[in-house]
Amino acid sequence: MDDIRRRRAMASRATARAAASHDARAATRRARVGGAARESAARRRASGRATSDVDGASGRATSADAFDLGQAIGTLARGERGATLPPGRVGALGVRETLEYLADSNGFVRRRVERYGPIFKTALFFKPAIVFGSREAVREFLKFEGELPADEALPETFRELHTEYGALRMTGSRHAATRANFGKVLGRAALESYAPAIGERTREFVEDVARRCGKETSSFRPGAECVDFALDLLFELFLGHVPEAKYKEAMKAYNGGLLSLGKWSSEFKAGKLALEDLTSYVEAHYRGVKARGELDRPEYFFYKQYSQAVDEFDEVFSDDRIATTCVLMVWGSYIEAAALMGHACVLLGEHDDARRAVLREFERVCCDDENGCRRIGTLADIMSMQYTSAVAKESLRVMPQTAGGLRVNPSPRKFASFDVPAGYVLTADPRIPFRDEANFPDPDAFKPERFVPGTHEAKQNDVSSETYYPGGMGQHQCPGISLATVMTQIFLAELVSAFPNGWRGKTAPKYVQVPIVILDREYEIEFLR
Ligand code: HEM
Repeated sequence: MDDIRRRRAMASRATARAAASHDARAATRRARVGGAARESAARRRASGRATSDVDGASGRATSADAFDLGQAIGTLARGERGATLPPGRVGALGVRETLEYLADSNGFVRRRVERYGPIFKTALFFKPAIVFGSREAVREFLKFEGELPADEALPETFRELHTEYGALRMTGSRHAATRANFGKVLGRAALESYAPAIGERTREFVEDVARRCGKETSSFRPGAECVDFALDLLFELFLGHVPEAKYKEAMKAYNGGLLSLGKWSSEFKAGKLALEDLTSYVEAHYRGVKARGELDRPEYFFYKQYSQAVDEFDEVFSDDRIATTCVLMVWGSYIEAAALMGHACVLLGEHDDARRAVLREFERVCCDDENGCRRIGTLADIMSMQYTSAVAKESLRVMPQTAGGLRVNPSPRKFASFDVPAGYVLTADPRIPFRDEANFPDPDAFKPERFVPGTHEAKQNDVSSETYYPGGMGQHQCPGISLATVMTQIFLAELVSAFPNGWRGKTAPKYVQVPIVILDREYEIEFLR
């Protein structure tokens, strides 16, 4: 059979690659040396003297000797004279930095790492911040990260709309009790329970696209269509059904309000109203399901788990808290999952070899000559698609969609040999190690094999919790990355199978930057015949 021949050929190529492999420890050593060397170079450039920065528009460094009035005022006002902070610019109020970050967050970090190395000071959401990402700094950070509050580091609009029940605002025993429930609705048993619905809905989604493309047009807008699909699917997984269109619009309005620039903005006001509508709707629905004794039905897996949730005082969650949590979970998941689906789709369109490897893997797991290709329906199917999983991981690396978590430093401390004043935000930014060639050689290249254990490529790369953390780290580390990856794997498998000749962008990809990096709704790809 073709399939067996293909697999044998792949196995012999893998053996050849393994035979040619280098020692991974050497790569690790290079990474360590690289990180430390860059940090000490950064220390040599450290402030209070440094007034230079990066011009966001041109990407060029501004003159180190140019007098920067904003930075001078800020240094005085914050009482930082004489302290040795990392290089970079905070400014007086951080307005310039915040606006530049909001316009192009990935570029913002890249330009500063090129200029200053893997630790620099700046301002994020108008708050002074230290951004870092070397292995040494991450290791040191994790020793005290558990004591740092996250709440005050969040933008004001986000804090209010995230509500008192939002995990990102919590610390201590309240947070621990909240997190204990995440495992039940996002862990392995939950993924088992969601897998059949994800498989079924994804096939319907892709079949719909294929039918449409067979007739009128061959175009697909991943930025818009993956968002709409993911929103419907996650409503179904967490609420047991897809609500009417106005609630889907409300979710988008809520998302828009979270990182609006101020409470005065129309986006914030619309986001607040949307949150109220959504919460009342979900609460009424949850109460109905409970009153009808339907909590044990499989579609209400999520509700069932939360009906048993207890807080830090062993009190069961109120209906209001369950409804709010449900809204926050749909929000936290749909936009992240859709962003990853879209980015991976674009990257596979640009990389024929990777697309073909995903197709081969899908055929191996789900297809046979007699019955054709069945749907992916179990977690076991998904876990045997190692290459497709690697495509999702590599997509998160080359096209990072979120920053790291933000924490506030409550009292002055030494960190990575620098002074960090009280009130500074500390953030381990995944985009720094992701682009470090000591961790990921040829960092701009899309190479899923980096994440396929045992391959020659994997041995050249240094993938660990200190170099690869797309879901952040520490107390608020993302509990939902696996769900997003599962959704993306199934989507990619179905897409390559429906469109075996591949696809390409009609234009260069365009991205929206906040609240997370995601394809623009208008961006279109076309399928090849
Ligand atoms: C590829 C997709 C995703 C990415 C890149 C991502 C990224 C992140 C990051 C960076 C954090 C950490 C914030 C911090 O440390 O302060 C986080 C937290 C969180 N994520 Fe995700 N996320 C993704 C998917 C999901 C999904 C599908 C869910 C499902 C509901 C989810 C739910 C959450 C929750 C509840 C938290 C807060 C945890 C806490 O505060 O304890 N995420 N996510």
